[in-house]
Amino acid sequence: MEVIQVDNYSAMSEKAARMIEEQICKNDRSILGLATGSTPLGLYEKLIEGHKTCGVSYKNVQSINLDEYLGLDKNHPGSYHTFMYENLFKEIDISMEHVYIPNSKPLSAGEECQRYDQVIERIGPIDLQILGIGSNGHIGFNEPGSDPNSTTHVVELAASTRKDNAHFFDSIEEVPTHAVTMGIKSILKSARILVLASGKRKAEAVKRLLNKDLSESFPASHLWNHEDVTLIVDTDAYKLVSQKGSEDLAR
Ligand code: PGA
Repeated sequence: MEVIQVDNYSAMSEKAARMIEEQICKNDRSILGLATGSTPLGLYEKLIEGHKTCGVSYKNVQSINLDEYLGLDKNHPGSYHTFMYENLFKEIDISMEHVYIPNSKPLSAGEECQRYDQVIERIGPIDLQILGIGSNGHIGFNEPGSDPNSTTHVVELAASTRKDNAHFFDSIEEVPTHAVTMGIKSILKSARILVLASGKRKAEAVKRLLNKDLSESFPASHLWNHEDVTLIVDTDAYKLVSQKGSEDLAR
């Protein structure tokens, strides 16, 4: 795992945006794995800026999102469809036909998971997967205890995740209890993975990740089974990583 330490959220977002743009520059038909949440918002702002000021084009790019809540209308302000459209897609030249997000109101959740796996199979492999990390170590919505061999599946959200995400809703009661997420196995099939972590709220999770707390109770630890992972972490999120931890990483 390559660890890049930066000063703050803005520097993290900038660095991540340049990595995505380099990927698109190398291959304008890149497949991006995209994430939602507070962490990538700054990254998406930088991508929009790069598109508007430097002409970076997403015309041939395809994107596959990690997850979506179950039970919300697609147009609900809290849905990940709305999040992606409002915070990125409507501002760049990506074709909405090239955008894949799990259906939030499928007739059958099980069939939706199968359909999404087929999409990943058909469109993928993902060239560059963006990941945030939950304060409980989740990746996508793969909560603690998730099966490392999982593909797309339905999850019951951890209470801590619903609390963390409540600020996107009017109240915590409105946060859905279930979601569809790409599984850990699907995520690890991506050619490269870029993990972003910013702020004190992520310090414990970053510490556990970098101290190689390898266990199913800490889903992000499965990233150590992938050979091309980069973590961009800011000073606040890095602050609990011990000196010893960083020396070990340097080896
Ligand atoms: P956040 O969530 O970006 O809203 O902190 C990260 C995640 O849950 O993956």
